[in-house]
Amino acid sequence: MRFLITGGAGFIGSNYLHYVVEKYPDDYFVCLDALTYAGNYNNIKDLEGKQNFKFVHGDITNREFIDKLFEEENFDIVINFAAESHVDNSIKNPGIFLTTNILGTQVLMDASRKYNVKRYHQVSTDEVYGDLPLDRPDLLFREDTPIHTSSPYSSSKAGADLLVLAYHRTYGLPVTISRCSNNYGPYQFPEKLIPVVISKALHDEPIPVYGKGENVRDWIHVIDHNIGVDLIVRNGRVGEVYNLGGHSERTNLEVVKTILKQMNKPESLITYVTDRPGHDLRYAIDSSKVEKELGWERTYNFSDGIKETVDWYLNNETWIEDIKSGNYKNAYQDK
Ligand SMILES: NC(=O)c1ccc[n+]([C@@H]2O[C@H](COP(=O)([O-])OP(=O)(O)OC[C@H]3O[C@@H](n4cnc5c(N)ncnc54)[C@H](O)[C@@H]3O)[C@@H](O)[C@H]2O)c1
Repeated sequence: MRFLITGGAGFIGSNYLHYVVEKYPDDYFVCLDALTYAGNYNNIKDLEGKQNFKFVHGDITNREFIDKLFEEENFDIVINFAAESHVDNSIKNPGIFLTTNILGTQVLMDASRKYNVKRYHQVSTDEVYGDLPLDRPDLLFREDTPIHTSSPYSSSKAGADLLVLAYHRTYGLPVTISRCSNNYGPYQFPEKLIPVVISKALHDEPIPVYGKGENVRDWIHVIDHNIGVDLIVRNGRVGEVYNLGGHSERTNLEVVKTILKQMNKPESLITYVTDRPGHDLRYAIDSSKVEKELGWERTYNFSDGIKETVDWYLNNETWIEDIKSGNYKNAYQDK
C-alpha cells in the first residue's frame, strides 16, 4: 500500500516513520513536510535511501501542489500528522493554527476524495475534550465526551475533527480519527515540557513551570501512540473516533522532578512562572474502546519510558544543540 504521511519531520510523525518503514518493507511511505520551525529534517534523514521511503518538501495548505502529489503518487492511505501544535504559540498567533490545522485538513481530504484514497486518518488530541477537574480522579475522557475546547490550538484541532466526520457523513470519505494524550519520547521539539526541562537542566538554566505545576497530564510514550495509529488505520472501523491514553497521570511538577532526579540536577532550578491563560487543569483518557476492538495495549510504563527518553536526549546532545543554534534549519538544503 502507498501511504502519505504528513508532518513526518515533526516529533510524532518522524517516530511513526521510523516504526513503519522498518516494519512494513512492502509498503511505501511518502513523508510530506513543510519544515516549519517545528519540522526537523534531521529527524528522518536516516530514512533517506530506504527503498520504501521518500521525503517531499511541501505545504498541506497548497491545493495545487497537493493535487499534483496525489495524482503522481496514487496514495491508498493518508495519515495527517501535520499541524501547528504548540498551545502557547496559538495564544500569541491563532491565525496560522486555523490555516494549517483546519484548511490544511480540508485540502488533504478534498484530494483524498478526488483520488479515491481508501483511508484518511486524522491524528487528533485529547485536548478537544477540554479539561477535567483535579478533584475528580474518577472522570476520564471517552469518545462520546462533548467537545469543549480551551485554546485556539485545541479549537483548531476540534474544528478539523468535526470537518473530518462531516466529510465521512456527507461525501462518504472513509475516515478514522485518533485522539491521544500527551506524548513523550525522542525527537520532540524543545518547546514542549519534557525536552525543555532536559535541555535547560543540561546547562543548569532555570526551568520554567507554569503556576504551581499542579496541572495534570496523562503521558503516553510516542511508540505506543504510533502503534495505536497503525492499528486504527489498518483495522479500525470507518467513521470512528478512537482515544489513546497513557494511563500515566502526573502533575507537571512531578514530571520535572523525576527528570531532574535522573539527571542529578537540583530542584532549585525550578522557577515558577505566571500561568498560561486558560490553562487546562487535567487530562485523563479512557482507551478501552481501542483496547477492546483492536487489541491495543501500552508497551511502556512511565517510569521506564521517561528514563529511556532522558537517556536518548543525553546521548543525542547535538540534536538539541543544532536546534538551539538554528543549524537544524539547514539540514534539508545541506543534505
Ligand atoms: N505532541 C503531543 O503530545 C500530541 C498529542 C496528541 C496529538 N498530537 C497531534 O499529533 C500531531 C503531531 O504532533 P507533533 O507533536 O509531532 O507536532 P510537531 O509540531 O512536532 O510536528 C508537526 C509537523 O508538521 C509540519 N507542518 C506544520 N505545518 C505544516 C504544513 N502546513 N504543511 C506540511 N507540514 C506542516 C511541521 O513542519 C512539523 O514537522 C499533531 O496533529 C498534533 O496535534 C500531538
